Amino acid sequence: MSRTVIHGGLVVTASDEIHADVLIEGGRIAALAAHGTDAATSWSADRRIDATGMYVLPGGVDAHTHMEMPFGGTYAADTFETGTRAAAWGGTTTIVDFAIQSMGRSLREGLDTWHAKADGRCAVDYGFHMILSDVNESSLKEMDRLVAEGVTSFKLFMAYPGVFYSDDGRILRAMQRASGNGGLVMMHAENGIAIDVLVEQALAEGRTDPRYHGDVRKVALEAEATHRAVQLARVAGAPLYVVHVSADEAVDEIAAARHKGLPVFGETCPQYLFLSTDNLAEPGFEGAKYVCSTPLRPREHQEVLWRGLRNNELQVVSTDHCPFCFSGQKEMGRGDFSKIPNGMPGVEHRMDLLHQAVVDGHLSRRRWVEIACASPARMFGLYPKKGTIAPGADADVVIYDPGAEQTISAETHHMAVDYSAYEGRRVTGQVRTVLSRGVPVIEDRAYVGHAGHGTYLPRGTCQYL
Ligand code: URP
Ligand code: ZN
Ligand code: ZN
Repeated sequence: MSRTVIHGGLVVTASDEIHADVLIEGGRIAALAAHGTDAATSWSADRRIDATGMYVLPGGVDAHTHMEMPFGGTYAADTFETGTRAAAWGGTTTIVDFAIQSMGRSLREGLDTWHAKADGRCAVDYGFHMILSDVNESSLKEMDRLVAEGVTSFKLFMAYPGVFYSDDGRILRAMQRASGNGGLVMMHAENGIAIDVLVEQALAEGRTDPRYHGDVRKVALEAEATHRAVQLARVAGAPLYVVHVSADEAVDEIAAARHKGLPVFGETCPQYLFLSTDNLAEPGFEGAKYVCSTPLRPREHQEVLWRGLRNNELQVVSTDHCPFCFSGQKEMGRGDFSKIPNGMPGVEHRMDLLHQAVVDGHLSRRRWVEIACASPARMFGLYPKKGTIAPGADADVVIYDPGAEQTISAETHHMAVDYSAYEGRRVTGQVRTVLSRGVPVIEDRAYVGHAGHGTYLPRGTCQYL
């Protein structure tokens, strides 16, 4: 059994910061021991990694990605191969992607399709949520089987009528089923029916630029949908996880639900914390790069999101990585913002941007690790295999240089997309080395991994219930 020792670093988990060496045996964390102790110095090893001056972190868990997603008449540009490689570059060692049930098809067919896309191609480990587009008697029954085999979360949409949209009755039925089978309903909470009216009116009045995407997807319509989702979950007796929360009033709805003791959870994404409607309004169709739903909001919302993350009104930061190239893909919406494929690239930069938030004083180091590693693992039934550094856990470990300076750019990133939403942004902190189950994937900033190393992760149910 191969043995690796990581010595000299500061181990940071959601609960602790320990100056400790880490022993890895056969792909798992075997032990931690304080630097210089007899225990630590007695460890023999095949490989020693010097982490002096570095943080030793659990690998990031990105619980919201869309690799190769068919959407808006095109496909998200990252494959499972390129997307998981980029994730590794950024210190993320687990993704949970969304398999899609197509209208009129079974959940099983959708899941099989996603397994076929990912199998043998991933650089790091991966699991699946299931997008429920067609709630009916048969797909409701299938939910039970999926939960039993490790697909334990289901995304429903109050947005995108005619594509993924479910009405309140279908949502209630899915929630009732989840309350019986242990599944977690993930909600895209925007009132898509009302938004489509505003889209039609905007286009008729000649308001066709990308910035109107933000105008029509109003804060009130995110807040209203969030409120409605909470009430439906309450009636069903089901837990609820609201994805990509962007608006202050939506945070208020989640906070109010949690205050009542309801099992309601919230996720936000780096784009809502670092970008704003100013980006959507960039001239020359540049704003198309920032079209995603829920949309970017005015800057004032950011402080509410940071506060929500600090006080646990929001529990998770995921990327909603759904990259479309500017050239040929985002451009499909020139002259009609509603035809711009919705989504942004980000899987590579979540850990770094959130470390910048530590540097800027928005988050503590442990809260950084909690919202990026431990909480998503717990939320989606992967803890403590993923999300922490403790004996028995998978040895998914990031050696992180907190003092390195870098400039984010499409010139240097590894995602298969021709722009960066953070082009030119200077951040402090950078991944040096990444292990996935003890195997180096990034070594001193060189990619040494391979497609097919990543394995599929059947998941347990939500561990916050
Ligand atoms: O704009 C986004 N978020 N695209 C991906 C699909 C979704 O709604 O999460
Ligand atoms: Zn969504
Ligand atoms: Zn998404």
